[in-house]
Parts: sequence; C-alpha cells; structure tokens
Amino acid sequence: MRVRIDGIDRDARQDESLVEVITRHGGSLPHVCYHVQLGAIQTCDTCMVEVNGQLVRACATAAADGMVVSTVSPRASAAQVEAFDRILSNHLLYCTVCDNNNGNCTVHNTTKLLAIDHQRMPFRSKPYEVDNTNPFYRYDPDQCILCGRCVEACQNVEVNETLSINWEDPNPRVLWDGGSTIQESSCVSCGHCVTVCPCNALMEKSMLGHAGFFTSLKKSTLKGMIDIVKGVEPETGYGAILQVSEAEHAMREHRIRRTKTVCTYCAVGCSFDVWTKDRHILKVVPEHGPANGISTCVKGKFGWDFVNSRDRLTTPLVRHGDTFRPATWDEALSLIARRLSDISATSGPDAIGFISSSKCTNEESYLMQKLARAVIGTNNVDNCSRYCQAPATMGLFRTVGYGGDSGSITDIEQADLVIVIGSNTAESHPVIATRVKSSHKLNGQKLIVSDLREHEMARRADMFLHPKPGTDLVWLNAIARYLLDHGLANSAFLDRWVNGLDEYRKSLAPFTMAEAARITGLSFETLQNVAHEIAQAKRVCVLWAMGVTQHNQGSDTSTAISNLLLVTGNYMRPGTGAYPLRGHNNVQGASDHGSMPNNLPGYQSVDDPEVRARFESAWRVALPKTKGLDNHQMVDAIHQGTLKAIYLIGEEMSIVDSNANYVGAAFEKLEFFVVQDVFFSETCRFADVVLPASPSLEKEGTFTSTERRIQRLYQVLEPLEGSLPDWRIIQRVANHLGAGWSYQHPSEVMDEIASLTPLFAGVSYKRLEGYKSLQWPVAADGTDEPLLYTKHFAFPDGKARLFPMSWVGPTDQPDAQFDLHVNNGRLLEHFHEGNLTYRVPGIREKTPDTWVEVSPALAEERGLQSGTWVRLISRYGQVRVRALVTDRVQGRELYMPMNSSEIAVNRLTSSHTDAATNTPAYKETSVRMDVLAEVGESPLPRINSRFGHPTPQKGVEVERKWKRPDYRIPGTQFLRVINR
Ligand code: SF4
Ligand code: SF4
Ligand code: SF4
Ligand code: FES
Repeated sequence: MRVRIDGIDRDARQDESLVEVITRHGGSLPHVCYHVQLGAIQTCDTCMVEVNGQLVRACATAAADGMVVSTVSPRASAAQVEAFDRILSNHLLYCTVCDNNNGNCTVHNTTKLLAIDHQRMPFRSKPYEVDNTNPFYRYDPDQCILCGRCVEACQNVEVNETLSINWEDPNPRVLWDGGSTIQESSCVSCGHCVTVCPCNALMEKSMLGHAGFFTSLKKSTLKGMIDIVKGVEPETGYGAILQVSEAEHAMREHRIRRTKTVCTYCAVGCSFDVWTKDRHILKVVPEHGPANGISTCVKGKFGWDFVNSRDRLTTPLVRHGDTFRPATWDEALSLIARRLSDISATSGPDAIGFISSSKCTNEESYLMQKLARAVIGTNNVDNCSRYCQAPATMGLFRTVGYGGDSGSITDIEQADLVIVIGSNTAESHPVIATRVKSSHKLNGQKLIVSDLREHEMARRADMFLHPKPGTDLVWLNAIARYLLDHGLANSAFLDRWVNGLDEYRKSLAPFTMAEAARITGLSFETLQNVAHEIAQAKRVCVLWAMGVTQHNQGSDTSTAISNLLLVTGNYMRPGTGAYPLRGHNNVQGASDHGSMPNNLPGYQSVDDPEVRARFESAWRVALPKTKGLDNHQMVDAIHQGTLKAIYLIGEEMSIVDSNANYVGAAFEKLEFFVVQDVFFSETCRFADVVLPASPSLEKEGTFTSTERRIQRLYQVLEPLEGSLPDWRIIQRVANHLGAGWSYQHPSEVMDEIASLTPLFAGVSYKRLEGYKSLQWPVAADGTDEPLLYTKHFAFPDGKARLFPMSWVGPTDQPDAQFDLHVNNGRLLEHFHEGNLTYRVPGIREKTPDTWVEVSPALAEERGLQSGTWVRLISRYGQVRVRALVTDRVQGRELYMPMNSSEIAVNRLTSSHTDAATNTPAYKETSVRMDVLAEVGESPLPRINSRFGHPTPQKGVEVERKWKRPDYRIPGTQFLRVINR
C-alpha cells in the first residue's frame, strides 16, 4: 500500500497503524502511550494527525491505500501540543535530578521533540501519597501521566489483573486491586508495569538515588533544587533546562553499563539488559528478548541481590576434620588432581562420577563431560534433568525423534486449545503462563488443566480435571482410544505420517472410558467432553511438567501425551505440538551438551563407534565404550562401595535428590567429594574440597531454553574476587590432571561443539550476537528450526511412531499407616530450594518460609489452622513444618513447596523411580501427619500476593476516560488561539 505522509509517498503494510508506518520511515511523530509491544492504548492523544481533514490518533488508525496524512498541519500540531500540555499538568519536569534521566524517558524526549518551551496548563499535584510499600518498586502519583501502559501490561500481558485507573474520579490515579497499597495487593512484582512506564512514576527502588549524579541528595535539598528549576522556567523556558539535564545524562553514560544477559532461574529463557553502576544493579530492562519481550517474573526482574551477598564463596575450602579451612587455588586443585588420580589408579576411572549443572552454561556442561570422558575416562556423568525432564525427553524420543519442545512459545500462544498437565505454569514458568493467560483472556483460546491442585491456571481453565494422583496416563490413553474408536482421530495424518498404529491400538484395549473413570476418579462425561474438545480444536498444544514426569511411569505418561498429539494430527503445524516445560534455565542445554551417561553432545550415543571415533580423533584420546552411571545409580553405587569419588558443580544434590536421607548417607561414605558452587550449600557440608564459582552475571556463555533456543549471555560484572567462572575452574582441574586445555573464551568451546555435533553444526557466537538466538537443530549454514517436524519426523523414514502403552500404577500409595498423599513443586517467588532467592531481601519479606498446604476439610478433621506445626512422617523420613490451610488442595492431598533446605520435602520422598529413565517418583509419596501442640504465625504473611483481590478488566478501558465531562479531543482550543 502507499500512504502519502506530509507530502511524501510511503509504503505501508496491511496490518500497520499510521504510527508504525511513520516511525518505520524515520518520522518523528510524538506518541507517549503507544508501545510497540502493547499496541494502541489511546490515552495520551499526542499522536494526533490529520487524515483527509479529520483529526485521528495515529496509533489507532490503520494505514489504508491512498491515505493522505499530515503530521504537521496546524490542526495536528495544535492537537499534539495540547495533548502533551495535559500530560505535563500531571508530571513535574525535574529531569536533572531525576533517576529516569537516562535518554529513554518518553516524557523528556517528547518535551524536546515538540520543542515545548513553556507549559500552558500548570502542574497540578494529585492528592495522594507516594506508595513505597512494595520492596522492589514505588509509585509516585504526582509523576503519573495516566497513560495506562502499566494497566495494559498488567491486565493484558502479565494478566495478573491488579492494576486499573479510576477514570471517573476527579483525580484519577493508578490503583492496585482497586485501591489497596501495593504491598497488600495481588501484585506479584513481575515488573511489567515498571518496565513499560514511560516516565518515573513507577520506578525500581534500586534506581532511586543511584542512577543520577544529584539524585542521592537529601529529599529537602532535592525539593529545593526542583523549586529553583521551576522558578527559572518562566524566564529561560524548558529548552535551556533540558540542555542541563542532557549534560547530566551524558555524564551518566560513562558510569552506567547496560549488558545483555539471560535469566539464571527457569527455562523460559527470558533475556534482558542489566543496568549496573560498578557492582550495584540498577535495574533489569526486558525489551528485545525473543522469548519474553517486555515480560519477566519477580525473579528475573528483581531477584539478583544474591550476586553481591556477603555469603558468596571467595576462596577454595579444604576439609579439616569436621570443619573447613581456606586454601589457595593451587593447593585445592593439586589435592583434587592427586586424589582423583589415586582413586582412578587403584579402583579404575569408573569409581569416579561427575555431576554437571543445569545452572551452568552449555560450554561448561560440554567441558564437564569432556573432563569425565577424555581426561578421567568414564561415562559416569549426569545432570539434574534426571530429576525432572528425562522422562519427557524419553517420551519424545520414542514417538517423534527429538527430545525437545516441538515448537516455540509463539506456537503455544496461537493454539486454539492448550492442555496443561501436571504443571503449575503460572508459578514455575511464569512468562509462558502469561502468554496462555493472555490468549485465553483476549483471543478465545481454550484451556484444559489437569492437576491435583487448583492453582491459578486451574482456576482460569475452561475445564479443570482433578484425577487421582499418578493417573494421568490412564485418561490420556482412554481419550486416545475413544477418538480412534469413534472416528475422531486424524486418519489422514496417521496414514501419511505415523507408524505403529496397530500395535498401539491393541495396547489401548484396557483403556476404556469406564476403566479410566474408575481409576482416575474423573466422570465419563468429563472424559468424553475433553475428548470432543481435543477432536474439535484445529490446533492443540500440550504443556506438561514435573506433575507428569516425576512418577514411576513418567516416561510412559509423556509418551501417552505425544501419542495423543499424533492420533489427532497435532504436530508439524504452527500452534500445535508437545511442550515439556523444562525447569532450570539450562536443563535442556546440560543434556544437549553431553552431560549424560549414555550420550555424547547432541544425543550421540556412546555406543556408536563412528561417533566415538569422531570425538576420539578431535580429543586425541581413547573414549570409554559403555554407558556410565546416571546420578541415581551413582548414589546406589556409593552405598555399594563401587563409586568412591564425585566432582559436582552447581547442584544442591543432597536435598533435591529424592530420599535425601539416603543420598546424604551415601555422600558421607565417599572417599573424596568436590563441590563447586556460588554459596556454601547443604551439599558442601559433605565435601572434601569446595571451589568458589561465579554466577551467570559474572560469565560469558550460552544457555538453551525450553524452546531449544540458544542465547548468549554477556558478562555483566567481573567475577567477585576469589571466585571464577565454572568453565575456567573445570579447565584448571583438567589441566592439573594433565589435559593441556587452552580455551581462552567460551566461544572457542562452542566452535568445538559445533564441529563435533551435527545438531549444533551452525551455532557460533557470531550468529548469537546480542539478542540473536537459534533454536536447534541448527544446520551448518545457520538455518534453525523454531517449529520442528515441518517436513518430516526425526526418524530415518521421516515418520513418527506410536508407542504401545501399559499401566502399572503409582508406587508408595497411601495405606492405613501413611494415610495422606503429599505432592510437591515450585513456588513463584523462590527458585527450587531457594539458595539464590532467599538472598533477595524483598523475596524473603514476601515469602519467608515454606509450609505444607492442607485442605480446609482435613484441617477441620485434624483441628489445625494456618500456622499450626505438624510433623509429616513418610516411610523414608520426616519433617516438621507449619500448615497453611487453603482450598488449593483437596481432601487428603497435601502439598509442600520445595523452597527450603532446612525443611526439605525430599526428607519424605522415596527412591522409587521411573523405569525407563531412573527419574525419582517424587510425586508418589505417602505420609501421616502428627499435629503438634505449637501454633505459630501463618507461614505465608498477609503481604503475599496470594491474599490479594485482583480486578480483572480488558486493558485500561480508555472509553471511560473519554466519557468524562471534562474530556474533549485536543486541538480545538489552540486552533481558536492560533486563528485569533
Ligand atoms: S502484577 Fe504487579 S508488578 Fe506485575 S504488572 Fe501488575 S502491578 Fe505491576
Ligand atoms: S504509572 Fe502507569 S499510568 Fe502512570 S505514567 Fe507510569 S505507566 Fe503511565
Ligand atoms: S525465572 Fe523464568 S519466567 Fe522468570 S524472568 Fe527468569 S526466565 Fe523469565
Ligand atoms: S500514542 Fe496514540 S493516543 Fe497515545
């Protein structure tokens, strides 16, 4: 299309608004409330243009062929100035002493763009106090221009539905839960609102008093300076004042660094710029991340204080009796080399095990397995995907060929039906949850949730299924059978793309709807409704997590999900597919890069002579030929006396592995144990040598998110003195063992990976610069695959495989002695056991402890209340914990978050595992509950967001502003002035 803008013909795309066309062509139209990722909000009116003689908002007007647009006509200019004047009446311009004077303040920049010298409407203070109650950010009503960006972000992107604007009030402002303080509201501190605020009304507290040269002055002095500036404004105009503030901004450029990184917490893969002044983290700015855009959760946005914690390890430690003493690096590394060499010489290399970290980079995972295989000579290497993701990977290997999500987050957004099974997505993968919540709220996406708990996703769902614990496999298979039996399967897809239908159908014989209803407790009607919803939906995505995988049939249930997607033809197209949501930031990458006992990097089997030969030739060593021990088997091998030493990096294995008492007892038997971490973890207590590592902000490398998305992280801070990035430590250990490695930078490691691994053939740091990313497999020419299987499945004949099903039933079932089922999982605020997040004071304030969730019915039966101490006793151990009574859980089902190392849920869990992968059956645990006499405070303070009362609405509802008696389209008044 062609659009004539200010006399020049411009091309325009079908779906573009005028503001997009104008800015894409380098035009300088003012626009304050419009935001690329939020779209047209229409509250500010500063983007007024004249189209065919009519004043319209450029942000809300679609470009049309032949349109004639003026951005500079007297009417348009007058409207823009008047609209902006109204904004300035809501905002005190004191840029020089403002922490937001960083070159990106929309109000400042628009003042300059419109060459405002004097404002016609005077500033009017609003009759409200600044709200400082939230630990992470504050709201200053006097600076709030009522643009509504924050409301749009909270209502429609994050979909926490906390914010609104009281347009009908004489003095509108942003409200939390309709009028609560921020601290007592439902705000989850995700930071979306702060990120999109175009001025300083919402600001990170870590910025306040830190960003500017003059902003740390005392409040009274600051006020004096603001008064002086305001005093001279009538004489000098804003032009001169803005020049001063721009000089101050230029000075800031020399001391504020902006560095791109990737989040260290979960595997959504949010990326953002971190603004730092020396070691002070000023703020986290998400904007360009391919997975997240403007989105973060509280951890990624505000959870970084741990980096500067006084608890950081800054020197190697060597065991000295029952304590540790500081040692030099040389002493510690020499000791490690000597002891590992001795054990290898006397007991063989397979007496040593290596545990890599899903928090570390791909390059570090690669080096760890290279150390195990090429330097020590063992395949005993694993990572914590064994604890969560291995069954999902197995299910996908069996059926479609690649062990990763079959598409991208955008596919999940596009789906007509999303099914979430065993995943508390809103807390464990918050930014992916925002996409589902938003599509569900705004675009008619349907949502079915199967879970034991009625968590946020369950409450939002169109259908919430609550099957008996551990029975998802049964209803999935019954639905698949029902669809096949009733002609509702996608037979064209099955004929063309899928093998194994006959054997699979035979295996489904026991899975009738009646039998499924009996085993799962779901009604026949419910199951039938779910079957028809799936059959009718054009595009279905299934999301699942540890509620599926951490069972004795975790691999089979994951397989059942993929089977069902094949039966209904929900692969190979955008908006469809299988999405096992990976947990840790780099749990996908840790396995991808070979920290597995059976696979070299890129899932190349250690059994394959051709593969081994390729690595042997590159590494110039002979490699071990037989599969090594996984981390579950390593623990057994220690007890059996065959495994004598472990080198473990970045894993809190002593409490996150199942049956923690058994694991701890094993670690006590080790002859030699090296633990490398950022803090002195629980696991360090068992160590002989502790090595101080650097967290992600202090290193370079790549992470691979749940979307198979490989992204670069850049070094934000120098490693804290005394600590080192893990890749450097692993290299030093290897070299003390005589390896002779000489990597100068992780990019060299990635080049080596690419040269040896077809899956990553085209991966290079150059192709990953800045916010660029690649979703594996990556061909040598750099072509990646955001959506897998678009041409064929990843098997030699290109066809997928239906995998036969059987039902065994869960282990560790409740009985007369252990009468309650205890489930466990993550919390929004804390990551895993909380070693990092408890060192963030704001998170600690909001969520200081763990608890056990008890249903109201069970609480009444046992006579307990929130805060009552109880003792949970399983067949394997016990914990003492406070109860939280909540209807999120039902009947005799309990839930314990895993956010505590002192009260670790894994003191209760067993050593039962998934048969195919050895992933512990964490979710199959029975306990009895002794109610103790002691009653304390509720473990969840009232200031936690879970006690808030959201106020859902569709965005900022600007129509309510337009209905105000004092509102009129801007422009007419000034036109009258000009005409006069
Ligand atoms: S939940 Fe809180 S931090 Fe997140 S957008 Fe809403 S008000 Fe802002
Ligand atoms: S607080 Fe919200 S409404 Fe106020 S200026 Fe910031 S984004 Fe706009
Ligand atoms: S924890 Fe996950 S969802 Fe939250 S910011 Fe980090 S990557 Fe994103
Ligand atoms: S940018 Fe168009 S109304 Fe605000």
